[in-house]
Amino acid sequence: LARGVTAPDLAGRHVVVSAGGTREPLDPVRFLGNRSSGKQGYALARTAAARGARVTLVAANTALPDPAGVDVVRVGTALQLREAVLKAAADADAVVMAAAVADFRPATYATGKIKKQDDRDPDPIVLVRNPDVLAELSAERVRPGQVVVGFAAETDDVLAHGRAKLRRKGCDLLVVNEVGESRTFGAEDNEAVVLGADGSETPVPHGPKEALADVVWDLVAARLT
Ligand code: CTP
Ligand code: CA
Repeated sequence: LARGVTAPDLAGRHVVVSAGGTREPLDPVRFLGNRSSGKQGYALARTAAARGARVTLVAANTALPDPAGVDVVRVGTALQLREAVLKAAADADAVVMAAAVADFRPATYATGKIKKQDDRDPDPIVLVRNPDVLAELSAERVRPGQVVVGFAAETDDVLAHGRAKLRRKGCDLLVVNEVGESRTFGAEDNEAVVLGADGSETPVPHGPKEALADVVWDLVAARLT
C-alpha cells in the first residue's frame, strides 16, 4: 500500500487504549504524578481509528486535543483508570495499556490543604499499592481471544527487564522503551522493541510515535481471531 493509504484491517473491531499518567491526590491542591505526556497513547488511538477500529481512549491527565472519531473517557487516578478501562474492555477485541499508572497512592487524602508548621517537621507520606490493571486484564481475559498489550520504560538491561515483565504481567505483547536523557517522555519520537509472549521480538527503529503505533496494531491484528 502507498504511504498515507491505510488498510481498514481493524474495521468492526473495538479497541481500548489508555494514555497519559495518573495523579494520586494528597490534598485538594497536590498530587503524586509522573511525566507521561500521553502522546504515544494518542498516536495509538489515531492510528487504530484510521485503520477502521472503534476506539475508546481512556486519557489520564493529558493536555492534547481529542482525536477525531475516538471516544475519549477522562480519568484522574489509577482507581478511576482501572474502572474506565475494565468497563470499556468488556466488549473489546484488544486493550493497549500505554498509560503510566501510579504503582502507589497516598494512604490518606486530606480534605483540607496540608499546612506547614513552624515548630515541627512534616509528616511522612504513607503509600499503599494500586491495583495492577494490565496484570488483571491479562489474568481475567474478560473477552475470549482479547489481545492485551503493555508498555514498559526500562533502564540498564532493557530486554532482560522487558522479558521478565512480560512473563510477570501475562500480556500478549510488551512494548519496551529504553529511557534516558530526554528520551521518551514528552518526545515526538520513540524507539522500542515489541516482545511477544510467543517469543517474538520486533525492533522498531527511532521514528514518529505513529510508526510505532502502526507496528503495534500490525502485531495485534495478526493475533486477532
Ligand atoms: N500498569 C498497570 N497498572 C499499574 C501499573 C502499571 O496497568 N498499577 C501497566 C502500565 O500501563 C504498563 C505496564 O503495566 O502497560 C508496565 O508498567 P510498569 O510500571 O513498567 O510495570 P510495573 O509492574 O509497575 O513495574 P515497575 O516496578 O518497573 O514500575
Ligand atoms: Ca510501575
